[in-house]
Amino acid sequence: MSTQIVCSDPAGIEAALSCLRAGQLVAIPTETVYGLAGNAFEPEALAQIFAAKERPHFDPLIVHLSAVAGQSLGDLAQQQLIDLSQIPLPQQHALNRLIAYFWPGPMTLVLPRHQRVPDLVTSGLDTVGLRVPAHPVAQALLAASFPLAAPSANRFGRISPTSAQAVYAELAGRIPLILDGGPCAVGLESSIIGLQDQGLVLLRPGKICADQIERVSGLKCVPATAHPAEVRAPGMLKSHYAPRQDLRLFTDRSELQALAPRQGLLLLSPLDSALLSFCQQKETQLEILSQNGDLIEVSQHLFAALRRLDQADLAGLWAELPMAEAGLAHAICDRLTKAAAPKN
Ligand code: TXA
Ligand code: MG
Repeated sequence: MSTQIVCSDPAGIEAALSCLRAGQLVAIPTETVYGLAGNAFEPEALAQIFAAKERPHFDPLIVHLSAVAGQSLGDLAQQQLIDLSQIPLPQQHALNRLIAYFWPGPMTLVLPRHQRVPDLVTSGLDTVGLRVPAHPVAQALLAASFPLAAPSANRFGRISPTSAQAVYAELAGRIPLILDGGPCAVGLESSIIGLQDQGLVLLRPGKICADQIERVSGLKCVPATAHPAEVRAPGMLKSHYAPRQDLRLFTDRSELQALAPRQGLLLLSPLDSALLSFCQQKETQLEILSQNGDLIEVSQHLFAALRRLDQADLAGLWAELPMAEAGLAHAICDRLTKAAAPKN
């Protein structure tokens, strides 16, 4: 199969809609990362998603909705996506506040599913992941079609793509069409929120952090790491987002004294001149994620930089971790720690 990248003008969007309506897959831009989209209610399309990604069937898919379809829990129930009777009222109120505040946006809600949602989407779980993406191209597609199941458009366990070219590197020959919507504005996958006891649980950290979720929802939101024994979102598997090379993490730049020759080095901000000339002597390939350590910029550039280093002919990789473990820093640490974990 030949894979075409088309720009997301009206003709490109029309081409994508034709593919989707014919039961084929299209890689689409979202504000977080590119997704590999297919009709969420078409088992054939869902099977193709798992095949193209080489994704195991125990890993459920997120269903993406148009902004009109996802305005409240009542809407989701009416479209037979969720089973509202399984959600206690105080949690319903909290979820509606989250929906009103964060959708469209980088937030996925994992909620009791309606029986109509195919088992292939939920991997047989009794919950379904739902998200209303903010990207205008994703919204244009969703408004003109149907709910789209879309995992990140990478092969299983690899780095999520944040550009059309990165999708091509992952999936060329496996899908007909990639819709180019430019680089992703957030750059990290959505925050995933589930229900737990009377409160909420953050199953995957993202741009929206637990503090914000608590403030907006009025409920406690515990980190999923409080329950390490349970793997509730396979995005939580220890090795994920993995580059091919070994990756060493550091916080203190004095550790760079141990840098071997020909390493890739991912930095949150520029080096001082002494360290810079040391790295040059070592033929280090540098990736500076932000000129001033701004974590929004770091998130935007993280996966693309990791991908460039992974593709270069280097002896190993080093990455600098942000210091404060809150907000975006938490999400960045999460992704880098998983990228550095031994492959499983
Ligand atoms: O930002 C994002 O969320 C991107 C864009 C394309 O929307 N999508 C994405 O999908 O990251 P994926 O499949 O790569 O990661 C989704 C995660 C998976 O780890 C999956 O296990 C979890 O969401 N998930 C989906 N449904 C779930 C459910 N019912 N229960 C628990 N985890 C669920
Ligand atoms: Mg993924």
